[in-house]
Amino acid sequence: MASHATGAGAVRLRRAEAGDLPFVLTTEGMPHNALRISRWPRERHEACLADPDFAYWLALGDDGAPLGYAILKGLTDRNGNVALQRISVAAPGQGTGRAFLIGLVELAFTQTACHRFWLDVFTDNPVARALYAGLGLVEEGVMRESVVRADGRRASLAVMSILRPEWQARQAGCQASAGRPE
Ligand SMILES: CC(C)(COP(=O)(O)OP(=O)(O)OC[C@H]1O[C@@H](n2cnc3c(N)ncnc32)[C@H](O)[C@@H]1OP(=O)(O)O)[C@@H](O)C(=O)NCCC(=O)NCCS
Repeated sequence: MASHATGAGAVRLRRAEAGDLPFVLTTEGMPHNALRISRWPRERHEACLADPDFAYWLALGDDGAPLGYAILKGLTDRNGNVALQRISVAAPGQGTGRAFLIGLVELAFTQTACHRFWLDVFTDNPVARALYAGLGLVEEGVMRESVVRADGRRASLAVMSILRPEWQARQAGCQASAGRPE
């Protein structure tokens, strides 16, 4: 996949490389990520960066500085299931995550054979769940108390997805409303 402009706002997307790992590790360790995403050691990120099943992406601001990172997984899956393994922005609540995710879903459906774009999200993460639902991801179910988090407590994960025909229908709807006279 090549670098990609979302057209969805202030962020551009670029594939991350090994030189971007300091940003990834710093962002991953920020307090707002605690109990929301996992923290991986550098070695695990390095291994995934080199794995063709994974793709690391950065959201970039106008000045080219990274605003957030995301990890896609499943790029070699013969069934076309591409997962959002992780997404995090350094400064939440400024519209970055929404624009970034629009670009990531677009990338998956236009540049890979993805049929089902999916993720799991802790049920006690209302910001992420609202973001995903707002972009048309449907909740498939909840894996109840399936994870022991860093604080030692069990937590539940909701599985959400959007299928290629659903994404295409949303795209067609956006284009139709954009062409409609005021
Ligand atoms: C989840 C995350 C990537 C979203 O990115 P963001 O830049 O903060 O989100 P945005 O500002 O683009 O807002 C996107 C949507 O989130 C929801 N949202 C944002 N702030 C919210 C809040 N305080 N309360 C409830 N919903 C909120 C809204 O639905 C919003 O869409 P809208 O602006 O159309 O209403 C970011 O908050 C983050 O890094 N969180 C920590 C890591 C994490 O939870 N990752 C996801 C794990 S599954």
